[in-house]
Amino acid sequence: MRTFQVELRHSEQSAVQFGCRSDQSILDAAYCAGYLLASTCLRGGCGACRAKVIVGKISELAPMSNTHCQDPVSGKITHRLLCVAAPATDVIIEMDRPWRTRSKNPLSSRLPGRLPG
Ligand code: FES
Repeated sequence: MRTFQVELRHSEQSAVQFGCRSDQSILDAAYCAGYLLASTCLRGGCGACRAKVIVGKISELAPMSNTHCQDPVSGKITHRLLCVAAPATDVIIEMDRPWRTRSKNPLSSRLPGRLPG
């Protein structure tokens, strides 16, 4: 198992980078790094997480729906599904949809500052 560098790009956002293990989905690694990517099924079937790998190679952790990976005009496979894609090299990915940032510890804002003594 290795860890590769992933860079996400979107035309409306500044690029972000994070590490992703070769046995981990890019969507999961993004979440751990504080980025929420569009997703629905998390099984490679809906296309919500589709994105274009512009540099590097990915491996498939599970089968991807060809329908969602194809260019609608040419029919060629141009996109990958990040919920079932792991990096096989360092990668640069052009996102179809923007991501959101999240607190890395969503519970921290709900914890009391101090318990009564
Ligand atoms: S979340 Fe459905 S294909 Fe990735």
